[in-house]
Amino acid sequence: MKLLLAGLLLCGFSAVAQVNIIPQPASVKMPRIMADFSLSPSTNIVLEGGGLENSVSFFNDYLKEFYGFTLKTTSKPKGRNNIILNFERIDDSIPGAYHLSVDQKGIYIAGDNATGVFYGIQTLIQLLPMPNDLQKLSIPYVQIKDKPRFAYRGLMLDVGRHFMPVPFVKKFIDYLALHKMNEFHWHLTEDQGWRIEIKKYPRLTEVGAWRDGTVIGRHWTGNDNTRYGGFYTQDQIKEVVAYAAKRYITIIPEIEMPGHGSAAIAAYPWLSCFPDEKTNIPDSLLSEEGKKAKGKLVYEQWGVAEDVFCAGKDSVFKFLQDVIDEVAPLFPSKYIHVGGDECPKTHWKRCPLCQKRMRDLGLKDEHELQSYFIQRMEKYINSKGKTLIGWDEILEGGLAPNAVVMSWRGEKGGIEAARQKHTVIMTPTTYVYFDYSQTKHEDSIVIGGYLPLEKVYKYEPIPSELSAGDGHYILGAQANIWTEYMTNPSKVEYMMFPRVDALSEVVWSPKSTRNWEDFKKRLPYQFKRYDLWGTHYFGDVEEFETH
Ligand code: ACM
Ligand code: ZN
Repeated sequence: MKLLLAGLLLCGFSAVAQVNIIPQPASVKMPRIMADFSLSPSTNIVLEGGGLENSVSFFNDYLKEFYGFTLKTTSKPKGRNNIILNFERIDDSIPGAYHLSVDQKGIYIAGDNATGVFYGIQTLIQLLPMPNDLQKLSIPYVQIKDKPRFAYRGLMLDVGRHFMPVPFVKKFIDYLALHKMNEFHWHLTEDQGWRIEIKKYPRLTEVGAWRDGTVIGRHWTGNDNTRYGGFYTQDQIKEVVAYAAKRYITIIPEIEMPGHGSAAIAAYPWLSCFPDEKTNIPDSLLSEEGKKAKGKLVYEQWGVAEDVFCAGKDSVFKFLQDVIDEVAPLFPSKYIHVGGDECPKTHWKRCPLCQKRMRDLGLKDEHELQSYFIQRMEKYINSKGKTLIGWDEILEGGLAPNAVVMSWRGEKGGIEAARQKHTVIMTPTTYVYFDYSQTKHEDSIVIGGYLPLEKVYKYEPIPSELSAGDGHYILGAQANIWTEYMTNPSKVEYMMFPRVDALSEVVWSPKSTRNWEDFKKRLPYQFKRYDLWGTHYFGDVEEFETH
């Protein structure tokens, strides 16, 4: 009702402000005379195009959960009380374009393909008023033409530091879909936990998925001595991948190498340069079990572990290839992420096998050894028909020939990779690290950093330093959610919202329609949706702008 009232007041002045859609569509037109379509349990969904079941079930699930009814599907319209779903040739440069019209003939959604229809449904969901007792939902007459700006619209979730259960992972995927995002980068292995079942190496999850304790608080005042862990079985992974596919979301698995491998090393110490050396964690930070242990430990503190995969042993490559053999068929994604970030070279410098490898291959330093590591894995991943993604450290020592670079230490790595004609995904700490605080005040324990909503909103993924030609190598952008200080799903939600709204507009909406003042006006309605969904978010409007 409020939506309609707002519409009436604004009629004839500001077409865009009358509906509250995030991300802002490319074009929104409203008639001068306001009118609306009444959606009710007797409205039919008419499938004029085939293969649109995913859109129908998503919409009906949404209606069922929040409005208490579902709609029937038919193949022919009856009267005017219809939502017609169809295909129309629109713009096929990036999948997902759609047209949506609401008028006296009913609701009509046409997608360039099934993905486009699905995004039309997401917009329709945002045209729904809040639930009311009448089971009659007024949807304003509107004409929308829309398409994504970037092909890659991503979010990364770290389930290594804190494990996130399958129901939340599915909810997270729904959040992506509701914001027209399409890539879920699933960070599955870490120093602090290996989270994916690998049948050939059962100890990865028997041992590597569990730690005996975790450092306490932001300032590491000891260890909580609480055994912690969890992992996904391959059946669960398949279930989540299928769930995402129905929402036109690709899941990119990340298997970290050569660094961030302590959990795997705890399971199979021979993966380390020095299998007999105890994992280096000060006693004051260790669990009681950890203090007693003589050998390798799943990491119990945050930060970067020195113990990394040995680059001198062929058995390490065999192990990682075996892991890839099981990971690749689970994920239809054309990409496999191998990490590559934050790999200290201290062990490699004193490891006879790593040093021998360098001598044999004429590698001049350990950065070149890391480059050798990634290139060797790239060949294997390419042989499986997949493309390797790595964090921007993979530029050091020479980029693997077909690698995609994720630029996280600012934009520099992305700029350099694009100039080298490599595909780039932008994910700089300065704009899209959602583990940073949304406020200057400490409202909860966070890793540090300050990233208010406005700064995310004003991020431009194509750096001005790049020529127009090289700009085409920027596939899109992604926000990263590292979970050292996010122990549960509610905290993840609190950290991601509403920054995901800002990001969704950065990666979806045309650059020309991006408008911070207008976005701020649309946000309160989005917060009503979050309240409806029971989603946690940071809602302190005073803190949205950069201080
Ligand atoms: C990263 O934040 N270490 C990619
Ligand atoms: Zn070594």
